[in-house]
Amino acid sequence: MSSPIVPLPARERAGANGSAAAVPPPWRRRHLLDVEDFARWEIERVLDAAEAAERLGAEAPPLLLGQVVATVFYEPSTRTRASFELAARRLGAEVVHLSAQESSVAKGESLLDTLLTLEAMGAEVLVVRHPEAGVPETVVGQLRGARLVNAGDGWRGHPTQALLDLFTLRRRFGRLRGLRVAIVGDIVHSRVARSNLWAMTTMGLEVVLCGPPELLPAPDNRWRARVEPELEQAIRDVDVVMALRLQKERHATPVQVREYVERYQLNAERLRHAPRHALVMHPGPVNVGIELSAEVVYGPRSLIAEQVRNGVYVRTAVLGLLARGAFPQ
Ligand code: CP
Repeated sequence: MSSPIVPLPARERAGANGSAAAVPPPWRRRHLLDVEDFARWEIERVLDAAEAAERLGAEAPPLLLGQVVATVFYEPSTRTRASFELAARRLGAEVVHLSAQESSVAKGESLLDTLLTLEAMGAEVLVVRHPEAGVPETVVGQLRGARLVNAGDGWRGHPTQALLDLFTLRRRFGRLRGLRVAIVGDIVHSRVARSNLWAMTTMGLEVVLCGPPELLPAPDNRWRARVEPELEQAIRDVDVVMALRLQKERHATPVQVREYVERYQLNAERLRHAPRHALVMHPGPVNVGIELSAEVVYGPRSLIAEQVRNGVYVRTAVLGLLARGAFPQ
């Protein structure tokens, strides 16, 4: 699929008032726990760095040369783990991977002890995925200097997914402010939905949430989004539909998959209710035939492969910014 880089309008790059003279503040974060408290300029800094990472490719500067990056995954992953490891290597780091099943976690070692053990071996960056919400905050204060990157904590946050989704949208549409996105599916159990909501609304996108009532949040202004239970209504005037997987591993009572497919699967027929220019996203992994039909997953309006590819650029940018506070353009 072609993926043109749309030049960003000057106003989007400038300060909040559109002034091109605004001096960019210095990057101060050493950890990436979530995007909840990210300012607009911080998100823009990551997206600009990701653009540079894409442009530089294999010529990216070795910002992590001689450093060790550890990926510590207590839950399965394909995209996030592989792209962090590619990004770390691209910046010159050595990479070590631990999974809960194959490490001493299986013998009862705690996450904190595992992270401190890796630190003692010289790991300077710890990329952690964990099934419990809030785990990154509980351990970050006890590290002895390593930087922590949240690669997904339970239902709560997946900050680099939200950043790569915004990167994908900015690249495709040439802007972010004013874009309309419908997030469809298992909202309440989704860390992707939460992080995206924070990041998207900070960047001025309008978000509508859609799904069965038991998978939607209670009406609550913390979500900063409209809730619409009818799929055809939710996608009527959007630029993007983002479908989510049913997070069966987090369901207290099983969802009836057949009923879900009947009402919420995004297929070619349903996509006709969206504007003709509307595109389709999904963070993956996709359960093809449930939340999306095969013709939509692999069709011309799907941005899924582009999201995956952009994940490498965004994670390269994040690792570089956390390590050096800047990413050479
Ligand atoms: N989107 C995402 O986090 O995918 P993985 O679980 O494969 O990393």
